[in-house]
Amino acid sequence: MYVHHARITGLRPDTTYLYSAGHDGAAQETGSFTTAPRGRAAFTFTSFGDQGTPNLRRSLKWPTEDTPPPLGPFRLYTSTQGGTEASADIVAAVERVGPLFNLINGDLCYAGVAGAIGEDRVATWADWFINNSRSARLRPWMPCVGNGETEKGNGPLGVTGYQTYFALPDATTATDEETRGLWYAFTVGGVRFISLANDDVAIVDSGDIYLRGYSGGAQRRWLERELQAARASTAVDWIVVFMHHPMISSHRSGGGDLGVRQEWGPLFDAYGVDLVLCGHEHYYERSLPLRGTLPNETRTPIPVSTGTDVADTGKGTVHMVIGGGGNFATTQDDLFEEPKGRVVVDVGKVPEGRHRKAFYLTEDAPGAPSRTASTPMASPPSTSTRAPVAPDAPGCTSRTTPSTAPTES
Ligand SMILES: [Fe+2]
Repeated sequence: MYVHHARITGLRPDTTYLYSAGHDGAAQETGSFTTAPRGRAAFTFTSFGDQGTPNLRRSLKWPTEDTPPPLGPFRLYTSTQGGTEASADIVAAVERVGPLFNLINGDLCYAGVAGAIGEDRVATWADWFINNSRSARLRPWMPCVGNGETEKGNGPLGVTGYQTYFALPDATTATDEETRGLWYAFTVGGVRFISLANDDVAIVDSGDIYLRGYSGGAQRRWLERELQAARASTAVDWIVVFMHHPMISSHRSGGGDLGVRQEWGPLFDAYGVDLVLCGHEHYYERSLPLRGTLPNETRTPIPVSTGTDVADTGKGTVHMVIGGGGNFATTQDDLFEEPKGRVVVDVGKVPEGRHRKAFYLTEDAPGAPSRTASTPMASPPSTSTRAPVAPDAPGCTSRTTPSTAPTES
């Protein structure tokens, strides 16, 4: 397999360029892109995670063990079945908006899952690009890496495929080839966008390889320098982080991740990150502005206001879970009715099957009242400033395992 990248230099800001790509024996593929404006200017971007592939090759999976020769012995290569028709529809939705660029919050096509269940990773990646190039040829699709991009055998971190397909901006400290492109930042107008790799800090074991701690703190040190520089810059008004595993989740069987809260939360607070975009959970949720945490076992984020008419990100960070990009296992209908959340706080020491078992705590989630697209103005909790919850208080239940069958998030 070969992946070709072409670097174009000398581009002007806020300019649309036409291009074509081709090779001998093939028709030219054409496209266009528009460069970012210089300085403060209005622009539009879109974002989602957990897209999957729209099963373009499902019909090819017809031979079985029982199929007589000559077809039976032949392996047929199919992509993962993790997507739905929505995986295709969302591309049209992006084009309807026509953003300057699109952010992908991890779990692009679940190539790691495809490999784990005996399907073909390369075909899975190919289907993802075939599906998305009708948009990505017109505007950048900027990814962050999720657990679905971890492919056992593809380098020590399993992400060589991801690193090969995407030529991403270098982190200022990206001298290590092993972590190249896994975290990076770029500026558009007055907004600094930061892409993080949450398998480095998440407690949950959901990839093809358990990666927690692989950077040895390098990503965190880079993030703090990056946030310091962004906040010190007079050209940056907003900081937007996009990453895969969420810090908050009101999903009954999924959950936020305590590791992400512990590693990133204090930095988001200290440097006033405005917006955090996540995936991993396959539904829509938007938090109130959050700053600081309760001193409880789950480090519950504290809302700075309860109003849902204005989200003042100068006072707190708004989190959005938007992992409804097309994955078949939607969980929009499995949210807590009241403002509660679940948090992964630990995993078993050894894998049971493919992954280590996750242990969860359920918490009161005062920051989660404005969570769904269908109920964006749900009643806020009665308390916005509340006493800290002790670990054994009613807000924290005993450890539980998922209430429904686990799905690939
Ligand atoms: Fe995920």
